[in-house]
Amino acid sequence: MLFTKDNFGTGFKWGVSTAAYQIEGAHNADGKGPSIWDVFVKQRRKIANGEHGDIACNFYNHYADDIALMYKMGIPNYRFSIAWSRILPQGIGPLNYKGIDFYNRVIDFCLELGIEPWITLYHWDLPQELQKKGGWTNRDIIHWFGYYVDCCIKHFGDRVQNWMVLNEPMVFTGAGYFLGVHAPGKKGLASFLAAAHHAALCQAEGGRIIKSHRSNYKVGTTFSYSHIEPFTSSSRDIAAANKVDALLNRLFLEPLLGMGYPVKDVKVLERIERFVYPGDMGKLQFDMDFIGLQNYTRELVRYTPFIPFVNAKIVSANKRNAEHTLMNWEVYPSSIYEALKRLHSYKHIKEIIITENGAAFADECLNNEINDEKRKYYLQDHIYKVLQAKEEGVNVNGYFVWTLMDNFEWAEGYRPRFGLVYVDFATQQRIIKSSGAWYSNFLKRSSIMFT
Ligand code: GCO
Repeated sequence: MLFTKDNFGTGFKWGVSTAAYQIEGAHNADGKGPSIWDVFVKQRRKIANGEHGDIACNFYNHYADDIALMYKMGIPNYRFSIAWSRILPQGIGPLNYKGIDFYNRVIDFCLELGIEPWITLYHWDLPQELQKKGGWTNRDIIHWFGYYVDCCIKHFGDRVQNWMVLNEPMVFTGAGYFLGVHAPGKKGLASFLAAAHHAALCQAEGGRIIKSHRSNYKVGTTFSYSHIEPFTSSSRDIAAANKVDALLNRLFLEPLLGMGYPVKDVKVLERIERFVYPGDMGKLQFDMDFIGLQNYTRELVRYTPFIPFVNAKIVSANKRNAEHTLMNWEVYPSSIYEALKRLHSYKHIKEIIITENGAAFADECLNNEINDEKRKYYLQDHIYKVLQAKEEGVNVNGYFVWTLMDNFEWAEGYRPRFGLVYVDFATQQRIIKSSGAWYSNFLKRSSIMFT
């Protein structure tokens, strides 16, 4: 394969993504209130090695150097999130102006260096004060979230054009309110379905609020999306794969597109009706300017009678002897192509932006160098698949690497390193990895690449 950045056209947005809790640290600095992640990480045995994001990459104090590094690497777009409890310590009510100032400094410095900011409004760190009232399971979240979105647009919307409402609602409701492995650590079907319905409403409502301020803001929201295949061609495996696909890939996307929840495919979703008020089904729909696709791997699914509701399980990559990353996610570049084609087949999707793609490998720092060839090939192969889809007519107009620098990987702690830049967490030193040097070169010189 042989291609350059130019093949994607001049309007294509290249960037990197991060999230507040994973990088900022300064968890209680300058008036910030606690978020559900600040609380969750302190509970026993929730996070690998008892790690937490109290300090993380200390981006709160290092932001200028980190943005300068992005500039040096030639990265023109930066997607980051706002920590809700940094600007509204109680979730709603009095503003914390020091928190607002921090994001003003981040935004202003990006703009000064010619880096375009892309803001994710919610990347999983709900203010703990709101969790005390039930968090996403409480329907009042629609009001709380609306208040927060409004604040962000009022304070940052004079300079920021690109907005994403939610980051991966399936992950924060599924892992946080059904499996209990992410904050706030709740378990059970009822809390999941309530949280899911309210998140789906907020996803659309957030879009409406942003557009009510200015109709030409560019508004999107992001979804985790993995291409899913049955493990064998048996009809039971095919049915199992279809259910997992409906749940993991379509549960939040289809209501946004006006198609309702995929209840036909997953019967148990009928129980979401308990939380649905008259008029809600219409309110789930919103015409986003773009859909953010976050893709890392594919999943193979087989039938099992032992998993309730779906009778399905994912066959993990190591059990299949498939090449995989440190997350035990199969390296399968065609997944991003299949996902793009599939999203393209929905009538109402106008534009797709890859808002996350990347890989964790066991990086070794030797003499201040990190030779992460596997990550480099991973990125090249995926970018190539994006190009292939684009050339076949898919309207994909951006690609953001997850992530700028190694950071706090939620329940997995600091072990999985996803960065283009290595972080020595003891000293906060940053070192550009060979994958980062490659990406930088690709962006700056449109250099030809071979793999
Ligand atoms: C997500 C989040 C990121 C993760 C990344 C790697 O997609 O889960 O947006 O915060 O760190 O995906 O797991």
